[in-house]
Amino acid sequence: MKPVRKAVLPVAGIGTRFLPATKAVPKEMLPLVDKPLIEYAIAEAREAGIEEFIIVTGKNKPAIRSHFEPDQRLENLLREAGKEDLLHYASPAYKNLTFVEQPGPYGLGHAIWWTRHLVGDEPFAVLLPDDVIMSKKPCIGELISVHNERGGNVIALEQVAPESAHLYGIVETTSHSERHMEISNIVEKPVLGTAPSNLGIVGRYILHPDVMENLERDSRLPNTEIQLTNAIVASGKSKGTHGVLISGRRFDCGTKRGYLSATIAFALE
Ligand code: G1P
Repeated sequence: MKPVRKAVLPVAGIGTRFLPATKAVPKEMLPLVDKPLIEYAIAEAREAGIEEFIIVTGKNKPAIRSHFEPDQRLENLLREAGKEDLLHYASPAYKNLTFVEQPGPYGLGHAIWWTRHLVGDEPFAVLLPDDVIMSKKPCIGELISVHNERGGNVIALEQVAPESAHLYGIVETTSHSERHMEISNIVEKPVLGTAPSNLGIVGRYILHPDVMENLERDSRLPNTEIQLTNAIVASGKSKGTHGVLISGRRFDCGTKRGYLSATIAFALE
């Protein structure tokens, strides 16, 4: 089985829940204490051994790219001010970051499909940076371990309250142990009262390259938002989809409540 070496980070959303804060600043650049959200996801993946990062931005989101590029002017200013200890912020040692621009708001599935030439024929990780996970071991690393044993697709899950189920992909499972399960179906954002279980998808995935082929099929449908979950369900029929209950604490920083809880938790930490 090929190892998981690459991670895709989709950051093309409009961030409507945080307007006007997200008018000029992308949601993923909002600070959690002193680092933008996207850095937490990159740090998690690096700690788990990921070597290459593919960042899918939207149009007019130059702030994300600038953040990761060396800034000679800032470097000079810090040197002049004798602040050598801060120089690594001006020229961060981020290697192997590739940026691709999604041409429009065509959904999470389309953002992933847009990276197919860079991902190639190998399993890959997906991290949605607005889900921040506080844990001893990197969450994506736990998923990689399960993938190394079983292959197929692997998805992070957590128990969600019935009143929040409409915000997430909710899974149907066949077999179940304490933290691991086999997934037979996923209902994306079920209408209140129709969720097939209380297990919601957290934005961490290891995907079989077969998912790209299923996305390819969906991307031919005109004017539709392409869901990642449909392609995972289709791929799972032959390759299997495993669920892992996360061991850390997840903050949905796509909501104001989650973002504020994360700010407090990380500040206290
Ligand atoms: C996406 C997925 C959803 C998942 C969620 C996790 O939704 O489509 O299945 O539960 O991320 O955060 P989004 O938050 O992009 O609307």
